Amino acid sequence: MTTALTCTAVDAGYHAGHPVARQVDLSLEAGSVLALLGPNGAGKTTLMLTLAGLLCPLGGRVEVDGRELRPGSPRAAVRAGVVLVPDDRALFKELTVVENLRLASRRGSPTTLDTIFGYFPELGRRAKVGAGSLSGGEQQMLAIGRALMQDPRVLLVDELSMGLAPVIVESLLPVIRRVAHDTGAACVLVEQHVSLALRVADTALVLSHGDVALRGDARELAADESRIEEAYLGRRSDDGGLSVAVTTASR
Ligand SMILES: Nc1ncnc2c1ncn2[C@@H]1O[C@H](COP(=O)(O)OP(=O)(O)O)[C@@H](O)[C@H]1O
Ligand SMILES: [Mg+2]
Repeated sequence: MTTALTCTAVDAGYHAGHPVARQVDLSLEAGSVLALLGPNGAGKTTLMLTLAGLLCPLGGRVEVDGRELRPGSPRAAVRAGVVLVPDDRALFKELTVVENLRLASRRGSPTTLDTIFGYFPELGRRAKVGAGSLSGGEQQMLAIGRALMQDPRVLLVDELSMGLAPVIVESLLPVIRRVAHDTGAACVLVEQHVSLALRVADTALVLSHGDVALRGDARELAADESRIEEAYLGRRSDDGGLSVAVTTASR
């Protein structure tokens, strides 16, 4: 196994001295999926922006394939193969499906429109439709498809489920699993649907108020989601991370 993404003691935030995600350590194998969980405002998006080079880390280091990324350089991140699907999807709404995909294609890449339509047959049927006329689920497929055109080594997907019905999310998430398997991309999935995310992820990490409150094997955590619930509430225990008892009053 090759480690595709490593974060060491990363502090992420907007102002020096005020990290909103603190001391994050990550190690992701190529082809593996990490579910990055936690309540609103926990610091998930801030961490993703930092991994994508859109924010300069306030501390620590990010490595892709063992090479440190130049801090705060989106270009360096893209060159290293880090691709972010942002939570607003950032599609060109007035362009068609195909035009959106072509804009992202890289010269000499083995990934073609047919590759994308293989993952998302619906998009193939809507190839000439303007992105703005697609359903929410189709727009998310297009955002992921556009990321795949860039042959990601590290694929960051922020809140794939934003504004989508759970049944659509349920059909989209396994595609991330397949992509990781087929392409060897390491995927970080920020997701509010905890059970669905744990079903497709290998490992999970819960951020709460900017601290790593819990991390572990996705299957083990899925078997006892009460640990995740507790971590969401941000109770840190003496053993360095796992959260402790939840009172009924605070639920
Ligand atoms: N552009 C910004 N400037 C300053 N603070 C921000 C900015 N964006 C988000 N924050 C703050 O950073 C914290 C974490 O936010 P965010 O990373 O968006 O959380 P999450 O994605 O887990 O919901 C929140 O307290 C939020 O108010
Ligand atoms: Mg967010």
